[in-house]
Amino acid sequence: MNLLPRSLFGRTLLVLSAGLLFAEVASQVLNFFDRGSGVYRLAAQQTARRIAQSARILNRLAPEQRGAVIDEIIGPTFSVVLGRTPISVGEGFAEHDRYERDLAALIKFYLRSQWDTSVDITALGRERRPRNYEGVDTTPLEQWIARHFYFVLPGAFSVVAQITLEDGTNAVFYARMPQEPLSRLESLLPRLLLNLAIFVALGALAVGMITRSLERLARAAEAFGADPEGAPLRESGPREVRSVIHAFNRMRLQLRNHLQERAQMLGAISHDLQTPVTRLRLRAEMLDDAGRRAKFLRDLDEMEALAGSALEFCKSIGTELERHPLDVRALVASLCEDWSEAGRDVSLEGNPRSPYRGHPQALRRCVNNLVENALRYGARARITIDDDDKVLRVAVRDEGPGIPEQELERVFEPFVRLEQSRNRESGGTGLGLAIARKVARWHGGDIHLRNVPDGKGLIAELVLPRSPA
Ligand SMILES: Nc1ncnc2c1ncn2[C@@H]1O[C@H](COP(=O)(O)OP(=O)(O)OP(=O)(O)O)[C@@H](O)[C@H]1O
Ligand SMILES: [Mg+2]
Repeated sequence: MNLLPRSLFGRTLLVLSAGLLFAEVASQVLNFFDRGSGVYRLAAQQTARRIAQSARILNRLAPEQRGAVIDEIIGPTFSVVLGRTPISVGEGFAEHDRYERDLAALIKFYLRSQWDTSVDITALGRERRPRNYEGVDTTPLEQWIARHFYFVLPGAFSVVAQITLEDGTNAVFYARMPQEPLSRLESLLPRLLLNLAIFVALGALAVGMITRSLERLARAAEAFGADPEGAPLRESGPREVRSVIHAFNRMRLQLRNHLQERAQMLGAISHDLQTPVTRLRLRAEMLDDAGRRAKFLRDLDEMEALAGSALEFCKSIGTELERHPLDVRALVASLCEDWSEAGRDVSLEGNPRSPYRGHPQALRRCVNNLVENALRYGARARITIDDDDKVLRVAVRDEGPGIPEQELERVFEPFVRLEQSRNRESGGTGLGLAIARKVARWHGGDIHLRNVPDGKGLIAELVLPRSPA
């Protein structure tokens, strides 16, 4: 299973957020340990000074006065017990020895005398029932941290300092060290989430800006592929995107010029072909053999038809047409009449709601090509006009064999004719649909072909959007 998001948007956002999360967690953890060690250093100094001062005071007093003074100096996190011999305290972790040595040196520094001093760091509450720390109920992570970072211990820890006073009395000081409890790390979570949320929102905005531009480009490329003769794309968006669209428009213009050049050349050839064909026709008329004459003339007819439709196709490319308000119903009706008079089976239904702004001859040719196909390949043509305020549709339905699904787009290409209609007698030159689509697209619309289910014919639909103007 591929868990990676498929879109550029998702991927970029994922990489950025993961990076931020990692950096954020790392910096919070570093911060946490840094602050913990700072707090520890301060607390250690204070505790050492307090222990040393108390020891010096107790050392000055007579044994019977000491009890009263002790009552005054002890507190919830600090206590003193006097005895004759040193007590034994749980050893704790070897890793703590360094802290213990440092604390002992600090206490000695504040004592300003070389009295016997030993320091042990041990779990709170264990100092009077000595035991090793390993036995305490903690998770392996807490133990690992307790070993290596004394100041972030899981529970409160005590410093037990034993000092032998000048009269041989052993003074045991218990002091609780302030610590960063591990649970404080959990309190960082909301902050982390807040940061992440802000970042993701901003990131989505920025990445969205980029991907929207890309989507615009993709749409532009698609529109360009569909119709190289359409209007140029609006050059907007960030500079980079604008320059790509600009390049796109230039390419479109060049391609269009190429197409026009090609069309003009084809047009010129088709046009110039007419004269030699006419000459050939005159010569063929003079042939004595009637059979050969008929064959010659048939070939010449075909050549003429080919040149004629090629010429028509070329005329439809690159010409600037003017639009007029049209009664589409009347236009299609007159066309139907022509076909009916020629004895063909055509019918017309439906009414447009209002006149459509278009080019009359071009639209007539367009619909006529669809009707011609329907009659040629499907025997009869049923035309319906359907109109709402947004699009005007003219659908031509026949009862022929239809077109295989995979060929539905290909038949629009110039000179493409399907195998079963290769027969010249039954078909034309393969330009009809190309011309019809050209006209439709010039009007901002298109032609869609779809088969009637069960091979009961084809529907060719001319879709003409009504522009708001
Ligand atoms: N209504 C239809 N039913 C079945 N096949 C069709 C239909 N319309 C078009 N076709 C197929 O699509 C091909 C291309 O059509 P197009 O109108 O472009 O060319 P044509 O009819 O062969 O020649 P032209 O229209 O230039 O005289 C046709 O040759 C035919 O095979
Ligand atoms: Mg045709």
